[in-house]
Amino acid sequence: MAAQRDDVLARGGETEGLSRQIDLIRQQAAACRELGSPFYEALLGDLADDVAAGGVGARVLAGHEDDAGPSALALRVMAAVHRLVLTGRAPALAAHYPSAGGDGNAAAAWTAFRETLEDHMDAVRAGLASPPQTNEVGRSAALFGGLLQVLATAGQPDLPVRLVEIGASAGLNLLADQFAYRAAAAEAEPWHMTEATDVVLDPAWETRPHGIPEAVRVVERRGCDLSPIDARSEDGALSLLSCVWPDQTHRLERLRGALAVAREHPVELVRAGGGDFLDDLQLRDGHHTVVWHSVMWQYVPAAEQQRMLDRLEALGTQSTADRTLTHLAFEPRRLEPGGRHRFVVAATTWPGGEERLLGEAPPHGVPVRWGDPRAR
Ligand SMILES: C[S@@+](CC[C@H](N)C(=O)[O-])C[C@H]1O[C@@H](n2cnc3c(N)ncnc32)[C@H](O)[C@@H]1O
Repeated sequence: MAAQRDDVLARGGETEGLSRQIDLIRQQAAACRELGSPFYEALLGDLADDVAAGGVGARVLAGHEDDAGPSALALRVMAAVHRLVLTGRAPALAAHYPSAGGDGNAAAAWTAFRETLEDHMDAVRAGLASPPQTNEVGRSAALFGGLLQVLATAGQPDLPVRLVEIGASAGLNLLADQFAYRAAAAEAEPWHMTEATDVVLDPAWETRPHGIPEAVRVVERRGCDLSPIDARSEDGALSLLSCVWPDQTHRLERLRGALAVAREHPVELVRAGGGDFLDDLQLRDGHHTVVWHSVMWQYVPAAEQQRMLDRLEALGTQSTADRTLTHLAFEPRRLEPGGRHRFVVAATTWPGGEERLLGEAPPHGVPVRWGDPRAR
């Protein structure tokens, strides 16, 4: 094995690519530590060592030495392996994956991880072609909580709501009214509009939003994505599950719950960029049209971002008291020049068209702290 790597190193130009690849895996390991996955931190550390030593990891990742950093190669390999675990094709590894009921012992998992790479080399290499794509249900706390705040001050809070999402992934957040939300500082019962739900965001909010309306009547759920995922198909569900880090069991639990909800409540998803999608959107009399999005804006080219904002502004000029429009975003932004990015809930409602910053949350959306984050 070491001879293979020496061969790679001997071919000069590839040396830099290989050491960059190893660096990127180590960076991903550090990111996993910071973002709360010690399990992946350890496995990725082992993988980086293995690639450096010319082990099976080097063969799995061969040909990807020059992949760009944002392609997240390390997460692609982890998702491909996770898929094998979740489908029962790697039982020895599953014994250590918390997502499959395993013991979470990353040190013990490494041997089985290496064997899985060896036994399923073709499947893992094929999996490297798919970028990791998630649909984070926790962000419903920010989006739906934001909508509740908007309705609390709306002229006509009872208008039926059309939910329209750009960059919806599998459209799970379009089901936000079907989830339950527990406020950390509130009474024991979570707030919900449905009788029974498979998703309880707990805690969803630090405090309940003020002035929650009695009911929100969602009459339409529609979204777009460049790569929409069918949450109702086995393959779509597996794609989403395999991209969640296996020791983040709370995220897995709410994702599994939302997948169950999705089987009962279809959403309409189209394969389109946000710019084209919004061009086709019209307001409807007697309805409140809500265009929302979370953690997708940064992936949209600047020209398309501007096109979407212009389109929303144009739709806003067509709004009336009983044909309203809200643009609701949960996206990272700097609140002062040079400041750090913060994940902010922002809403603009027409008629009017003035933006309000409603709250702030961690990247996965829970728990939301309500109030203008600039005031803190
Ligand atoms: C990080 S994911 C977030 C998905 C979902 N909004 C969530 O919060 O769980 C970003 C999503 O944006 C989609 N996307 C990126 N650029 C887009 C564009 N120009 N138009 C529509 N969707 C886009 C990606 O395909 C991906 O599903």
